[in-house]
Amino acid sequence: MSSITKEVTTAQISPGVRIPLIGLGTWPLTGEDAAAAVTQAIGNGYRHIDTAENYANEAAVGEGIRRSGIDRGDLFLTTKFNTPWQSLAGVREAFGHAVQRLGTDYLDLFVVHWPNPAQGRFVEACEGLQQLVDGGSIRAWGVSNFKPAHLRLVQDAGLDVPLNQVQIDPEHGQPGQLAYHRHHGILTAAYSPLGRNGNFLNHPAVTGPAQDLGKTPAQIVLRWHVQHGRVAVPKSADYERQRENLDVFSFELMPSQLDAIDALETGAPPRLNSDTYFH
Ligand SMILES: NC(=O)c1ccc[n+]([C@@H]2O[C@H](COP(=O)([O-])OP(=O)(O)OC[C@H]3O[C@@H](n4cnc5c(N)ncnc54)[C@H](OP(=O)(O)O)[C@@H]3O)[C@@H](O)[C@H]2O)c1
Repeated sequence: MSSITKEVTTAQISPGVRIPLIGLGTWPLTGEDAAAAVTQAIGNGYRHIDTAENYANEAAVGEGIRRSGIDRGDLFLTTKFNTPWQSLAGVREAFGHAVQRLGTDYLDLFVVHWPNPAQGRFVEACEGLQQLVDGGSIRAWGVSNFKPAHLRLVQDAGLDVPLNQVQIDPEHGQPGQLAYHRHHGILTAAYSPLGRNGNFLNHPAVTGPAQDLGKTPAQIVLRWHVQHGRVAVPKSADYERQRENLDVFSFELMPSQLDAIDALETGAPPRLNSDTYFH
């Protein structure tokens, strides 16, 4: 069992940089829906927003942040860039476009969205991201959808990978992937952490603790993520569901309850194969 205690709400990505364990996922929200969901989420207490170039909502997310009135320094903002930008100069250009769309002047976390191994430039992209950190444009960098073989190539170039955002839910636990992260000190961020309202939310391993603790099934699954030391970025535009998804720091699952959720693992791979899929 992770040593995380119930009140821990952030994790360290890199020295001096902590990321809130629960962030608001913003795909597939766009336009006014995205702006309104972000403003509402910040009002509901979210301090971490997850967006991407590919979601075509960065401008709307930026608008939602501005409307909320929050100080930029109180918010952890993540975005991701597409594979055509994977070069030293390209990453710098991608950063410029991202901050312009978002209406900010720095990013907390900038992420390679997909490795696109056939293009063969993701290592250079990570080097470009490290340069942005060194130059103070971004606070931390990360990758997404990188398999161990992709991560190894980045590490072989002498870089420590701070974070990998991958698809994880109780039925898609990717144990080999997570073991690699643990072994190499790579922080895991779970996307689709609720399996897009997956069937496992009705399984007794989830509904049992929900009943015992007076929580919802989604809260139990998000608590399972954070208690394993993972970041999770559930998406909801709904006022109540946003609040419940963030409210997972006042209770604790017992080791046996964590084990029972771990046992829902099916061995199924993620929806998309990052050796071939990219954008
Ligand atoms: N890096 C990548 O390649 C990648 C890929 C996919 C997604 N992501 C990120 O991960 C985020 C989340 O993933 P996702 O949207 O695929 O899946 P998800 O967060 O697991 O599930 C979202 C779905 O669950 C519903 N939901 C949210 N909270 C709920 C609750 N408490 N009870 C019941 N249903 C609930 C939402 O509906 P309502 O809105 O109606 O509440 C929505 O239909 C995305 O928004 C995006 O930021 C990253």
